[in-house]
Amino acid sequence: MSDTQLTDFLAACGERIEAALEAWLPPEQAPPAKLHRAMRYAVLGGGKRVRPTLVYATAVAVGLAPAAVNAIACAVEMIHAYSLIHDDLPAMDDDDLRRGRPTCHKAFDEATAILAGDALMTQAFLVLARDETLAVGPAVRLAMIDRLAWASGSRGMAGGQAMDLEAEGQEIDLITLENIHIHKTGALIRASVNMASQAAPELAPELADRLDRYAKCLGLAFQIRDDILDIEAPTEILGKTHGKDQAQFKATYPALMGLDAARQAAADLVGEALASLEPFDAKADPLRWIALYIVQRDR
Ligand code: IPE
Ligand code: IPE
Ligand code: MG
Ligand code: MG
Ligand code: MG
Repeated sequence: MSDTQLTDFLAACGERIEAALEAWLPPEQAPPAKLHRAMRYAVLGGGKRVRPTLVYATAVAVGLAPAAVNAIACAVEMIHAYSLIHDDLPAMDDDDLRRGRPTCHKAFDEATAILAGDALMTQAFLVLARDETLAVGPAVRLAMIDRLAWASGSRGMAGGQAMDLEAEGQEIDLITLENIHIHKTGALIRASVNMASQAAPELAPELADRLDRYAKCLGLAFQIRDDILDIEAPTEILGKTHGKDQAQFKATYPALMGLDAARQAAADLVGEALASLEPFDAKADPLRWIALYIVQRDR
């Protein structure tokens, strides 16, 4: 991989998702204007857009045009943005800084932040239900809505968040920690890839399984890297407050096994993710670049 290939791909996906999100977010003048401003504040103009980029890269790998999966990219990023707003609330991680700016509840107020999260979650499903550029039949559309709902709820992201809070200050074993990470972060990353492969219904089931395995490994690696960056990256680069996990006695990979072993665990998972892509041709290269990026990223 050359650096420019990845940078160009990330930039192209970034522009594409920004436009799609802009089109699907309520205008800020429309009442209730404060709520709409908070939704737009939390979603637009920031973030690495890893989940939409995975949606686009999966589409390319299975022979679809990125434009065919804009609705999926939009929906996953809206769920993600909602999860970040709620994750930062005083009742959860109590964070003041997100994407280099005050968190939503700091920039607005707690009630508005809670509602912005609620409304972004439902907006995600509205996009999947309504977007006419998503060229799939009603059965596939329903299966995508089902997939995202499962990944976001108590058996997925929200469940993982509940387990994360329960584990604060506790001594937990690796299996339990892996389970937290697979749910709180892995579920949505896995669904991003799964929904993009659902958009190609003629894709061989073995290949869809391969993509699923790729995403499962990547989702866990992504959160391990997030845990490492909480320790290693300075606040100015990270865009969120350095050292929060240790201060809050969070269950993390470095806390459980040390930094070196955590780095090794992430690298092993990326190796496994790349091996899962073995039957794919060069169209899957963006997925390969993203896998490497996820463990090398500095923010
Ligand atoms: C942060 O996600 C929360 C986790 C699930 C680890 P990202 O690192 O993708 O955050 P943004 O979207 O780039 O801000
Ligand atoms: C958050 O994990 C996962 C979700 C938001 C679902 P973290 O709490 O580690 O994310 P950051 O570090 O605040 O971004
Ligand atoms: Mg958290
Ligand atoms: Mg947090
Ligand atoms: Mg974190």
